[in-house]
Amino acid sequence: MRRRNSLLASRSAWKLRRGARPSPFPARPPDGDPRAKPARSFAPYPACPFAPYNECMPPAAPLDALISAADRALRSVFAPAHASRPTPGQAPATGGPDDAGRLSGPERRTAAALMRVNHAGEIAAQALYHGQALVARSEATRKILLEAAREESDHLAWCEARLKELDSRPSLLNPLWYAGSFAIGALAALMGDRTSLGFVVETERQVEGHLDEHLARLPSDDARSRAILQTMRADEIAHGANARAAGAAELPSPVRSLMRGTARVMTTAAYWI
Ligand SMILES: [Fe+2]
Ligand SMILES: [Fe+2]
Repeated sequence: MRRRNSLLASRSAWKLRRGARPSPFPARPPDGDPRAKPARSFAPYPACPFAPYNECMPPAAPLDALISAADRALRSVFAPAHASRPTPGQAPATGGPDDAGRLSGPERRTAAALMRVNHAGEIAAQALYHGQALVARSEATRKILLEAAREESDHLAWCEARLKELDSRPSLLNPLWYAGSFAIGALAALMGDRTSLGFVVETERQVEGHLDEHLARLPSDDARSRAILQTMRADEIAHGANARAAGAAELPSPVRSLMRGTARVMTTAAYWI
């Protein structure tokens, strides 16, 4: 105890001696002085792209982004899709009731298989854009990707509704399409935003080609599926144009061929399974 008191006394004596000296630090400018540092701002942080409800919170930590990505994945694959726009070709726009009843058995099966392929393609497109958005470097790129993914969810809901009308079901392999496409999207985005946007351009170009092919193969009486595919086609063209305008890089030919091959595997399997 005596030793502790002596230490405290010597420290107080040192403080007294030091207080007599001038401080080595510059004096703080008075309030209102233009040299004074501005008061710390508590203005809201930039909006988090993964969670629009927390605009007043700091930018998302990696764990938050991963949780949001997992949430989006589960919703895309397992939850019923919700469209923000009405289904194209719905009465009264076309002036008629559901036309699925007018199709013969084989026509209905063909239309259902084609719509199942389109549904799987929309799952893959959403996954691709979600994966790209997760590792996008700029906020502008992330915004383009998430906006495109949101419109893909309209497509997903329309295809899902049409599959029900045709008494059919989505592909059983949808979780596989989502996981594979998400990984490809994230890898593409690791190569930089311009390459990532190049993937969007190429994906949309290939989807447009598939839609053209499906429009030619749909039964002539299936006006509803046709209206859905035509609206989707217009949206896909707009997604590609947006990505091109945002500075997308042209992908090398081997990469484009690889993407075509991967899409061929998916569309062939989804037609049957
Ligand atoms: Fe789409
Ligand atoms: Fe698209």
